[in-house]
Amino acid sequence: MSTANPADTSDAAPTIAQIGIVTVSDRASSGEYEDRGGPAIRDYLNEVLASPWQGLTRLIPDDRSTIEATLRELADLGCPLIVTTGGTGPAPRDVTPEATEAACEKMLPGFGERMREVSLQKVPTAILSRQTAGIIKSSLIVNLPGQPRAIAECLDAVFAAIPYAIDLIGGPRLETDPQRLVAFRPKK
Ligand code: MTE
Repeated sequence: MSTANPADTSDAAPTIAQIGIVTVSDRASSGEYEDRGGPAIRDYLNEVLASPWQGLTRLIPDDRSTIEATLRELADLGCPLIVTTGGTGPAPRDVTPEATEAACEKMLPGFGERMREVSLQKVPTAILSRQTAGIIKSSLIVNLPGQPRAIAECLDAVFAAIPYAIDLIGGPRLETDPQRLVAFRPKK
């Protein structure tokens, strides 16, 4: 039996959601150029999320087994959300969607469909992205293209559904800043 201590608020302390931010790029990971995708994802989450979160960042080459292992590692660390940037196109080294599918137990193809639909209104080459989304245990994985400007364009198209998706897979409750983006949770 625990003795009640009014100063102890640990039961009420909000969960700090760990969010995986994965940049997949041969050139950024070898230091040939600076990673701008990872910081753009971090900026986006800082702007949109109102509940506490912490980023776990990874900068890795376009190597299928490395991507797969990184996604599994972040899922094992308990990230309810893992966002990747890069490697979604048709070039020979672009294998992020294949690695995502290999690591995931379930796919959520609607995410890729919606992100491409919205992106096509901005740039005709959006059709070249094979970005997708899926679930590993209690982690939602979302692929984004490598272009830093694509980060907010794509996340804005799907983020309203992300907190509820995380509720459904047993993750922590994510809150958004309603001034920036209203999360949709169907009424029970
Ligand atoms: N989507 C948005 N919103 N904005 C973009 O600039 N670039 C496209 C596409 N999707 C783009 C986009 C381009 S040019 C390519 S080649 C594909 O994403 C794949 O990019 P990736 O291989 O860097 O993931």
